[in-house]
Amino acid sequence: MFAMILNETGGPEVMRFGAIDTPEPGPAEVRIRVAYAGVNPADWKNREGYLAAFRPYTFPYIVGFDAAGVVEKLGPGVTDFAVGDRVFTPTNHGQGGLGSYAEFAIAATDRVARIPPGLDFAQAAALPVAALTAWQGVIERGGIRSGQRALIHGGAGGVGGFAVQFARVAGARVAATCGSANVEYLRGLGVERVIDYRTEDIAAAVADWAPGGLDYLMDAVGVSTLANGLDLVRPGGTLVSVPTLTDDGDIPAALAAAAAKGVNHVFSTMSDIGSRAALERIAALVVAGEVRLPPLREYALREAPEAHRVIQSGHGRGKIVLKVADI
Ligand SMILES: NC(=O)c1ccc[n+]([C@@H]2O[C@H](COP(=O)([O-])OP(=O)(O)OC[C@H]3O[C@@H](n4cnc5c(N)ncnc54)[C@H](OP(=O)(O)O)[C@@H]3O)[C@@H](O)[C@H]2O)c1
Repeated sequence: MFAMILNETGGPEVMRFGAIDTPEPGPAEVRIRVAYAGVNPADWKNREGYLAAFRPYTFPYIVGFDAAGVVEKLGPGVTDFAVGDRVFTPTNHGQGGLGSYAEFAIAATDRVARIPPGLDFAQAAALPVAALTAWQGVIERGGIRSGQRALIHGGAGGVGGFAVQFARVAGARVAATCGSANVEYLRGLGVERVIDYRTEDIAAAVADWAPGGLDYLMDAVGVSTLANGLDLVRPGGTLVSVPTLTDDGDIPAALAAAAAKGVNHVFSTMSDIGSRAALERIAALVVAGEVRLPPLREYALREAPEAHRVIQSGHGRGKIVLKVADI
């Protein structure tokens, strides 16, 4: 198959278009002919070698978690999908499988969802990691409830754009931080109080908007940009930190400080295992118009190095997708 292949970790230029053996689906897995691959910050961190802490790199290597395409081959025992099904998935990359910047990707069926009518491949490829991270951090682990005051730090990013909307759908009143260029974008997503971190004092804005403290705070940027996050949450509230691999501070110390204050602090890493139902629910919300897709920026697969330069800047709006093939 063709793919963007790495023979070493490093800068964007280490990804080169080439040929590599096509992977075979194992039991309870499917092989997907990829139409679009989604791009996440984890991909550039992975490309640079940050995932070595979790698993060894074996070269040739392919990065990329998100894929949307068509089921092309069923592994042994698969009965819940058929060849030709239109699907999207965070793939098996999180468990060490080859990445999605490729003609084919393998995924265990517990994390594969059908693309509903009304969503195209590019839109579906933008969903898995970003929307699942937001869903798990806001709904499943964050437990946001109607009427609560929630702040999403980093509301304009891939994760944040979904998090503000999931919180709103749950009935919360939502505030979010972003840079000046994204203020109108976040207002358009229904954010009640947009805090421009370039011109405003976040703590003062929160004290004004939620005088008793926040019921819920998601930090989807990093501790160096919101060092006083714990101070913004009321005792009994919830602080969800999305681990970044690059800006997480001293996690045990942060958990101890939160416990001392009576704040439920969760470091919420996306779990792909068994994520099909959440993916289906997210896609249904998008199709129903209750959640808007972030703006998409599309690149060709061969332009993955350029896409990585953009996402690595840390100031993108919405999602980047790579067109892999016409299907
Ligand atoms: N552990 C996990 O399972 C997991 C899963 C998904 C993502 N993540 C991590 O979560 C982070 C966010 O991911 P993403 O996909 O949302 O990234 P992204 O799409 O690149 O978005 C980053 C956003 O951060 C905002 N930002 C940068 N500096 C900021 C600041 N000081 N205050 C407020 N906002 C700021 C930017 O908005 P402006 O342009 O307005 O500044 C940008 O929209 C990344 O570090 C990623 O690796 C972790």
